[in-house]
Amino acid sequence: MLSKVYSAGLEGVHAFEITIETHHIPSTPRHIMVGLAEGAVKESFSRIVSAVKSSGYAFPGGKITQNLAPADLRKEGSSFDLPLAAGILACDRVIHSERLKDFIILGELALDGHVRSIRGALPIAMGMPDFHKSDIIVPKENAIEAAIPGTARVWGVHTLREAIDVLNGDTDLTPVTVNVETLFQKNRHYPFDFSEVKGQEHVKRALEIAAAGGHNVIMIGPPGSGKSMLAKRFPSILPDPTLDEALETTKIHSIAGLLPGHCGLLATRPFRSPHHTISDSALVGGGRYPKPGEVSLAHNGVLFLDEFPEFKKNVLEVMRQPLEDGEVTISRALTSLTYPAKFMLVAAMNPCPCGYHTDPGHTCTCSEGQIQNYLGRISGPLMDRIDIHVDVPAVSFKDLQNKQNGESSEKIRKRVQQARQRQTLRFERFKDCHCNAHMTTRMIREFAPLDETCNLLLEQASLQLGLSARAFSRIQKVALTIADLAESETILPEHVSEAIQYRSLDKTLEF
Ligand SMILES: Nc1ncnc2c1ncn2[C@@H]1O[C@H](COP(=O)(O)OP(=O)(O)OP(=O)(O)O)[C@@H](O)[C@H]1O
Ligand SMILES: [Mg+2]
Ligand SMILES: [Zn+2]
Repeated sequence: MLSKVYSAGLEGVHAFEITIETHHIPSTPRHIMVGLAEGAVKESFSRIVSAVKSSGYAFPGGKITQNLAPADLRKEGSSFDLPLAAGILACDRVIHSERLKDFIILGELALDGHVRSIRGALPIAMGMPDFHKSDIIVPKENAIEAAIPGTARVWGVHTLREAIDVLNGDTDLTPVTVNVETLFQKNRHYPFDFSEVKGQEHVKRALEIAAAGGHNVIMIGPPGSGKSMLAKRFPSILPDPTLDEALETTKIHSIAGLLPGHCGLLATRPFRSPHHTISDSALVGGGRYPKPGEVSLAHNGVLFLDEFPEFKKNVLEVMRQPLEDGEVTISRALTSLTYPAKFMLVAAMNPCPCGYHTDPGHTCTCSEGQIQNYLGRISGPLMDRIDIHVDVPAVSFKDLQNKQNGESSEKIRKRVQQARQRQTLRFERFKDCHCNAHMTTRMIREFAPLDETCNLLLEQASLQLGLSARAFSRIQKVALTIADLAESETILPEHVSEAIQYRSLDKTLEF
């Protein structure tokens, strides 16, 4: 007997169809799997045997050969358990095979016949139009996610038995549907709000500018000054994500297996804050079959690197490609994959190893050499991609006692969105540039010209503060964003002088 069932796998964010052929002959019991099955797939047979028996079906004896095609693409993970089991049961006529050609089947099997959640249901569902199949069977936990693109009838199953009933057209289940717009609105809620941050008005202003122009930002301040608190709230003042952006981000979290089952769609911008002990492969993605790393999980959102100088040098170095290109390519012996990684970098650091160098309330115990050494850990090329430096002083007792709430994230976000709209119009004819931070040198000349007064101001400041030439273009970009927030057509001296204030590290760091 021969049967054919269909499943799907992933290469990066792209789904490909897999045909599973099962051949069964009465002979000495044996199982053979061919077609570049790896790791968990190879182990699936013992799960399948138990699941089939626990579900009350007889497991066919004899020789079973299963082939996963196309043979040249690697199949990895446990999501093929269910289709492999279906293939075997179709050979045994437990499943009527004429319906199988309409289905893509995905699911991991537990030994008792339950179906466990899988990774990547969303990108696979998005690929359904290419597979010309009308139905998809997924684990119940992945059903909302799979229903989002509206590309197929989605069956969410708890057990192998339920899947068999669906395939035989003999089921009480109904296909899962979602109203994407409703889900998008419902999930669009940020847990933290800027109104909870007391005082620190100039830091909030700097973060608003960063959000408005897409500028990477670093906060420098003593312990407990609220850097982490502010960073956590940063996604809530970024422009609302579009549905397309939300889908892109959700896709990556789905592939990483990090999507909460009930949620289906990440409607807010992600906030990722990996610890400074993270490895380079966890940051940019890796593993034998490269999984997305933190930079991709932060796609369309915020990557927060706390204690910035404590990150290993090689870890910070690998971040340069994604910061530059908005995507990351991971090369491994077996394969090379590209994941999107368009994120805003928010970094935080203490001013010195003990943390209290700039805090009038504490005595710093570090030597000048220790401080230079500490600051020197961040490489010049990386600092070059951070337009805004902002000092975060210890919050005053008076500010902390203040009962009044600060301005809400929603209000700030409205201003940010308006400034972004100006940039969308400005960069209409450019494919790769949507915000001021991404302007090339030529674009800065075209869009952020400085008049004589502004130039003079910049010259004076550079002499007084010892700013390097490379700081100039950053100041111009930030000044343009400040002008956008002020709804000013041109950059005025006050915009330049505010932008100059956000270069505080240039004074202390020498590259
Ligand atoms: N401006 C503020 N308004 C309200 N609460 C604040 C403020 N600043 C700090 N706090 C309180 O202090 C706590 C510590 O702040 P946070 O952890 O953000 O400091 P930090 O600058 O990240 O410190 P570290 O350098 O040790 O990481 C916060 O959880 C918050 O409760
Ligand atoms: Mg902190
Ligand atoms: Zn110190």
